[in-house]
Amino acid sequence: MQQYAMLIAPSANRVFARSAVRMVANEIAVLGLGALDGAVEGVEERVLGGVPYLVFRSGSLSGRDVRLLSNVSGLFALFEVHGTMLEPIPVQRMDRYDDDLVSILKYAGKTNEQFTKLLLNVTAASAFGAERILAGGLKVFDPMCGRGTTLNQAAMYGFDAYGVEVDKRDFEAYGAFIQRWLKDKRLKHKALTSRVKRDGRGVGQQTRVEFAVTKELHRAGETQVIEIVNADTLRSGEVYRRRSFDLIVADVPYGVQHAAVRETRELSRRPTELLEAAIPVWAELLRPGGAMGLSWNTYMTERSEMAEMLEAAGMEVLDAAPYLDFEHRVDHAINRDLIVARMPR
Ligand SMILES: C[S@@+](CC[C@H](N)C(=O)[O-])C[C@H]1O[C@@H](n2cnc3c(N)ncnc32)[C@H](O)[C@@H]1O
Repeated sequence: MQQYAMLIAPSANRVFARSAVRMVANEIAVLGLGALDGAVEGVEERVLGGVPYLVFRSGSLSGRDVRLLSNVSGLFALFEVHGTMLEPIPVQRMDRYDDDLVSILKYAGKTNEQFTKLLLNVTAASAFGAERILAGGLKVFDPMCGRGTTLNQAAMYGFDAYGVEVDKRDFEAYGAFIQRWLKDKRLKHKALTSRVKRDGRGVGQQTRVEFAVTKELHRAGETQVIEIVNADTLRSGEVYRRRSFDLIVADVPYGVQHAAVRETRELSRRPTELLEAAIPVWAELLRPGGAMGLSWNTYMTERSEMAEMLEAAGMEVLDAAPYLDFEHRVDHAINRDLIVARMPR
């Protein structure tokens, strides 16, 4: 059995306070349930040389596994443990672009980018193995995408990213941001803003960018897509065809009005009611074998209610131990948890 030690990024402690190590430990444990080729055991915190690490054991991690583990949300550095010595393992992140893609935009109501990465990782690992995830090309949908934190993280991984957002200012701000970013980075791209129509009726404005890491790939048509539509999420089924997406990932409205979180729809609809109406619409858009990962405020909706809604929409809720231990405090009004469900094949 080889012992591994992971140093957690200091930023994880700022995001999750005392929950940082637990969050990342559970993320690794979820990866170990199916996405990794090899088994992972004994994930726990250990202090080495006065510094806390996450340690785990495995007898069988493949090179592909190490590449997948390189993308764990809180990872700072990864080592093999040999007695009292740590040998660095070169990490190979999937990131295709500069990390300012996920970090530049700052605004009230932004879902923290590290948490977003964790949610995307856990959702992807619940549906697909390392090979499929590392290959890029998955289609990801955030049906309440705000100013695009999930879309940006998905794009970093080489996935195609689609979002729906009801707030016009968010829609416009994200469209402007992504086009400026692509220009600033001199990435060859096409951008188009148009109206989405179904059966002759307007659904909403849409901005779509198609881009590639290199000019050559762009010319060869090997492009990635980011698309955002300004519409009520309940109309997602009019925007996208059934079974369009491999993954659906969203940080849903917290149902609170406070300084750090601005939410447009809170006054017209409570989060639980909105989810009851929206989850069946989103489920239609998920491909068989795909997964949906949602984070929400447990002060507004209980975990059992979330599970019932997902099951009623035909999905299997994942309830192995690590999935049940992601709950964490955001602030006095928000206690956040996440839930993942899979669409049967
Ligand atoms: C917790 S925020 C998600 C923020 C996003 N992850 C980000 O980082 O920008 C929830 C989002 O849901 C949006 N929203 C609320 N009700 C909606 C609806 N009915 N249809 C579409 N979006 C909605 C809000 O405007 C807000 O942007």
